[in-house]
Amino acid sequence: MAETLNAAQQPPLGQAGERAARLWTRSMIALMVVLLGVIVFTSAHWGLHPPSRIETIDSTSLHQGGEFSEANLGTLIAPDGSAVVRVVAQQYAFVPSCVLVPAGVPVTMRLASADAVHGFLIQGTNVNAMVVPGYVTTVRTTFQEIGERLMPCHEFCGVGHQAMWAHVRIVDAKQFPFEDAKAKGVSCG
Ligand code: CUA
Repeated sequence: MAETLNAAQQPPLGQAGERAARLWTRSMIALMVVLLGVIVFTSAHWGLHPPSRIETIDSTSLHQGGEFSEANLGTLIAPDGSAVVRVVAQQYAFVPSCVLVPAGVPVTMRLASADAVHGFLIQGTNVNAMVVPGYVTTVRTTFQEIGERLMPCHEFCGVGHQAMWAHVRIVDAKQFPFEDAKAKGVSCG
């Protein structure tokens, strides 16, 4: 029968053993400091912004009116001149499927899911977030470069997941229909 030793009965580590234990402890502390440093560096340098606000919404009645009703979807220009983009993520499309934004203007993206958990990222930017039913996902950014970017769903949401993606079209501010966008949401079409 195997005998288990309690701490008092265990043979002493010996000097070499104690050195090894100290070395191990120090390396682990150093590793933790390095990993914490990486988090702080990426947050500051790459503008990492974890979702911090918990804003809830009834996902089952998005289409019945309120913030995510049809007329509000797409890009609206707020009284302060910034853009607010509202998008509904649903199996298996984003509505609108092509988001139109002016370059150089601060953009607040607000997304809500009508069904499952979705995710979205905008290629070539640090925009990347999840869209969870029952919550509004808010991301702030400013698009500087004119052009078209892909916005795929990056969270497996069912059989049609791989076909779920939208475009983001960034146009020169002179070509953006600011006046129309003050009254209702605009998109590419
Ligand atoms: Cu929506 Cu994957």
